[in-house]
Amino acid sequence: MEFTITADEYRRLCALIYEESGIALGEQKTSLVVSRLSKRLRELGLATFTEYYEKVTTDRTGEEFTRMLDLISTNKTDFFREPKHFDFLRERVLPECSRTKRIRIWSSACSSGEEPYTIAMTLYDSVENPAEWDFKILASDLSTRVLAKAAAGVYDEERVRMLPPDMVKRHFLKGRGERAGLVKVKPHLSGMIQFRRVNLMDERFPIKTPLDVVFCRNVMIYFDHDTQETLVNKFHSYIKPGGYLFIGHSESLQWITHPFKLIAPTIYRKET
Ligand SMILES: C[S@@+](CC[C@H](N)C(=O)[O-])C[C@H]1O[C@@H](n2cnc3c(N)ncnc32)[C@H](O)[C@@H]1O
Repeated sequence: MEFTITADEYRRLCALIYEESGIALGEQKTSLVVSRLSKRLRELGLATFTEYYEKVTTDRTGEEFTRMLDLISTNKTDFFREPKHFDFLRERVLPECSRTKRIRIWSSACSSGEEPYTIAMTLYDSVENPAEWDFKILASDLSTRVLAKAAAGVYDEERVRMLPPDMVKRHFLKGRGERAGLVKVKPHLSGMIQFRRVNLMDERFPIKTPLDVVFCRNVMIYFDHDTQETLVNKFHSYIKPGGYLFIGHSESLQWITHPFKLIAPTIYRKET
């Protein structure tokens, strides 16, 4: 059965999504929303988007909202996606932190975890004695579904195939028997990371110590101008002077007002 959405139903759904997540869907996204959510309506045995709206807004656990968001937005990510950021981390950030041997990083829309684990591998592999360092990474996302996957740290072997084999050996356990074809992140990496649900729309973030780097990659494209501006300025207050904000390669802060200095493509520095 093909579902249709009325203009009013679409407006209400978009308003809800925008309010809760900051994701701004324009009218041109109508058919995308219908095609992505139709399967879910069918699974739930619902006949209209009004019924679905009711379902989402009366679900106190928030699970249906998360499901809806997962269907609409993309969780696409990869190990070492946009590798220049990790080069920068190794070549610039780590040396700058070498006196204190302490580093705090936030992967703020971490999806299924490839980004924070890549940060952890980069830090671990770039210093002589990782045990001497105090590495802490906060990995967060709005979606509890992807966050659970991130915290589990289990991936199809295929996902790590493009990494150097010695790196895979160092940081992943290979599954056997029933778990053949899977790899699991080793505890020395997962121990560096705290996973937590954080909505980037929240007024305050659960961060007490000023951060060396915030990764906010490939999520701001879903937000409108004002939401981006508010968020980037909020990040500024959580980053220590001399710290950095990394954004996705297809994103830009060109049109928004913020106090960061652009020092390399998609890399911004909070000036002292
Ligand atoms: C395309 S993934 C980006 C993953 C990773 N940062 C990367 O660049 O590979 C976008 C993620 O943003 C998350 N997201 C969307 N809206 C959010 C919000 N308001 N707060 C936190 N995360 C959000 C989605 O759940 C999704 O996992």
